[in-house]
Amino acid sequence: MTKSPRRRARSPPKTPAPSITIGSVPISGTSKPHPEIGLGLWNLGRWTRQDELREESTASHAIEAGIRWLDTAEVYGAGRSERILGGVLARHAGISPEPFVVSKVSWEHLRPAQVRAAIQGTLERLDRPMVDLYLVHAPDDRVPIADTMGVLAELADDGRIGAVGVSNFNVPQLDEAQSALGTRKIAVNQIRYNLIDREDGDELRDHCARTGVILEAYTPLAHGLLTGRFLTPDSIPAANRRGSRRLDAEHAESTLAQVRDLATIAEKAEVTLAAVALHWIRRQGALPLFGASRPEQVDANLRAWGTPVPDDVLDAADAVTRSAHD
Ligand SMILES: NC(=O)c1ccc[n+]([C@@H]2O[C@H](COP(=O)([O-])OP(=O)(O)OC[C@H]3O[C@@H](n4cnc5c(N)ncnc54)[C@H](OP(=O)(O)O)[C@@H]3O)[C@@H](O)[C@H]2O)c1
Repeated sequence: MTKSPRRRARSPPKTPAPSITIGSVPISGTSKPHPEIGLGLWNLGRWTRQDELREESTASHAIEAGIRWLDTAEVYGAGRSERILGGVLARHAGISPEPFVVSKVSWEHLRPAQVRAAIQGTLERLDRPMVDLYLVHAPDDRVPIADTMGVLAELADDGRIGAVGVSNFNVPQLDEAQSALGTRKIAVNQIRYNLIDREDGDELRDHCARTGVILEAYTPLAHGLLTGRFLTPDSIPAANRRGSRRLDAEHAESTLAQVRDLATIAEKAEVTLAAVALHWIRRQGALPLFGASRPEQVDANLRAWGTPVPDDVLDAADAVTRSAHD
């Protein structure tokens, strides 16, 4: 295999990383525990070289600040996210506790030969012998899930992947995948879940709790909306709206009114809105997977995670958005 040269990113700004202890939970399929909060690398290697260097520094900074759950996918930056993460991990070789590395096979590669080729490419780009957790990025109803699950079980037996999981699966799809996987367990379902985009997660969370599937919540900050950074429709860039049903022309005003109510609740409780958003996810029984494009965002989110948020504050926040979905 020919490896591309690993270029060192510029040093991140030397802000002192907050000292937060990150807990972890047991996960079926691997003895390495699953950290309770993680960094997603969707944006890594996606835009300009300058963005890439900043985001690479952000990933490095996150590891130095104690983040160990690092989430990537073969489709992120067409493999560049995995390759850059591989370089960052190489520069942190031997760090303790060890990183918990997650990647995903594309929804376009779910036939057995494609899955085998996909994991091969992922491991080469990451420059690792295995990933701790491998997810089916999204279902494809043209490919029987049993075909995909069969090969994932073999890859787990061979030690090339630790735990097996899925992403963006609804309850029937999850049940079907579990039946197809046999005695091995679907360990994780990774879904979009946050205070304002909560319908699917609310439906899945009881099912996952009952069946022992870890619910990973992506987009926990609604692309920054739940940091209180955008309070009017015009202030939200297109990139920070992506994929949200709550920000289309019909819903944007009412969603922003909710965000303003949530910000008021947070302010009265003297905590940040991000702390409310992340702890609401924790209390729903899910694990937040946030994104960050600069080191200061990692620090702010870790500080938010380290801030206790009383239950009555979370109850008030929950009521603001639950009523919108009843
Ligand atoms: N399985 C799937 O289908 C799927 C889909 C989507 C995402 N994911 C995973 O989940 C990860 C996270 O998703 P996401 O990026 O949508 O999560 P997010 O945490 O809701 O949004 C991240 C964005 O919010 C802003 N932000 C974060 N912290 C901030 C802070 N403290 N202050 C101000 N702004 C802040 C930044 O926007 P700016 O960069 O604009 O500043 C950042 O890029 C992805 O990287 C990926 O690994 C998986």
